[in-house]
Amino acid sequence: MPSRRAIIRGLAGVTSAAGFAGCTRLLTRRDTVELNLPSNPHADALPARQHAVDDALRTDEHGNSLAPRYHTVLLLGLRNPPTVEHARTVERAMRELEGAYDWSPDGLFHVLAWGSGYFERIGELAAAPVDHPEVLSRTDDPKLETYDAALVLSADDPSTLLDAERGLFHGGSLAGSTPDARLGDVFRVVGRRTGFMGEGLPAAHTDADGIPDDAPLPKDAPMFMGFKSGRRGTQATEDRVTIEEGPFAGGTTMHLSRLRQSLETWFSLSRNERVARMFSGTLTGEDVDALTDDVPFEGGVPEAAREHDVVGHHEKVARVREDGDPLLLRRDFNTVDGGHAGVHFLSYQRSLADFQATRKAMNGWYLRDDSERVRERRNNGILDFITVTARANFYVPPRGGRSFPLL
Ligand code: HEM
Repeated sequence: MPSRRAIIRGLAGVTSAAGFAGCTRLLTRRDTVELNLPSNPHADALPARQHAVDDALRTDEHGNSLAPRYHTVLLLGLRNPPTVEHARTVERAMRELEGAYDWSPDGLFHVLAWGSGYFERIGELAAAPVDHPEVLSRTDDPKLETYDAALVLSADDPSTLLDAERGLFHGGSLAGSTPDARLGDVFRVVGRRTGFMGEGLPAAHTDADGIPDDAPLPKDAPMFMGFKSGRRGTQATEDRVTIEEGPFAGGTTMHLSRLRQSLETWFSLSRNERVARMFSGTLTGEDVDALTDDVPFEGGVPEAAREHDVVGHHEKVARVREDGDPLLLRRDFNTVDGGHAGVHFLSYQRSLADFQATRKAMNGWYLRDDSERVRERRNNGILDFITVTARANFYVPPRGGRSFPLL
C-alpha cells in the first residue's frame, strides 16, 4: 500500500500538471483521501492561492492596490508532534475562519504559512521550498528564527484581528459564533507582530521611540519614512510569485523580517535628500509627487552614485527586475511593537533566492568603487536608518494543501 506521503506527492504531481485549477482538485482529494473531511464549502468562493488578495483589495485613483490598514502576524509553535488528527483540526479551524469573515478589507484576509522549523521537525527540510534564514548583510546581526508556522491576518478594522485571534487561540467566538475547531488546540502563539499601513496612521504614532515627535511627516503618509510604497509597477504580480510546478505548485515563499527604524537623522535631512536616499539622486521631490503607478529609472545605479555621491533604496532594488518585472510582492507594514518605530517586512516571492538577490542589491556593496562617499550604510539608500533584528522563512501552500504540507 502506498504511504500517505507518496499519495500526497502523487496528487501534487496531478495538480501541477493541471495548473492552478488543479489546486481545488487537490483540496478535494486531500480532504477526502487524506484528512477524511468533506470538501471545503468555501473553496469555490475563495482564491485557490492563499496569497491572492489583489482582486479583493481597494485601489487608489491610479489603480494601485491599497493594503488593508491593520496587520497581525501570529508566530506559532506546535504543541505536539504532528499527526493527521492535528491536520484535520487545523483545516477545520481555517474553514471556521473562512465562514466567519468575508475575504475583503472589510472582513479579513488570512494566510497560514509553514516555517523552516516545521519542515525540519518532520525531516523534510531538504525537500522543502524554504530553508532556515541567513544573515544577509554585513551591517546587521539578526536573530535567525525557525518557527513552525505563522498566521498572517489583515483587515481594515483592527477589532476584527483581535476577534479572530481570540476565537482561534484563546477560547473566544469568531464573529459571534463559537468555533468547533481552534488553531489553539494544535499551536501555541510564540510571537506576535502587529502594525498598520495607510494614510494617516504613521502620523498618529510619532510618540514611538525612533521617530521624533515633531517629525515633518505628511499627515497622509502611509509609512513612517514619509513616502508611499506599492505602486503597481514596483510590485511582483501574484502570478509572478507563485510556484509553478512540482509538489509546492500554487504556493509561494514568505520572508518575514523585523526592521528597527532610527529616524532622527532622517527627518533632519531636506526632502530632496530623503528622496535621493529612498528613490534616487536622479529624482527630486517634485518628480516623486508626480509618480502614479510606476517608478521608471533611466540610467544605471553606478552612474548615479558617481554623479550624486548617494544612491537610492529603490534604484538599487529595482536592478534585479527580470524583463522589467520586480521579483518581490511586498506586503510589509509599519509597527510600534515594543514602543519603537519599525517595519515588519513581509514579502512573497517564487523562490527565496529572489529575496536574497533583492537584499544583495539593496546592500549596494558593488557601488563602493563608484563613490567613496557611498559606504556600507552612509549615503546608501535607507541602510543608515534601519537595523534588521530578526529573520524567518516560510512556505505558503495553496488553500487546498494548507494543513501540514508534506506530512
Ligand atoms: C524600512 C524599510 C523599507 C522602506 C520604508 C521601504 C520603502 C520602499 C519604497 C518607498 C519603495 C518605492 C515603492 C513605490 O514607489 O511603489 C520601495 C521599493 C522596493 N523595496 Fe523597499 N522599503 C523598505 C525595505 C525593503 C526591504 C528590506 C526590501 C527587500 C530586501 C525592499 C525591497 C523593495 C523592492 C523589491 C522594491 C520595488 C523594486 C522595484 O520596483 O523593482 N524594501 N521600498
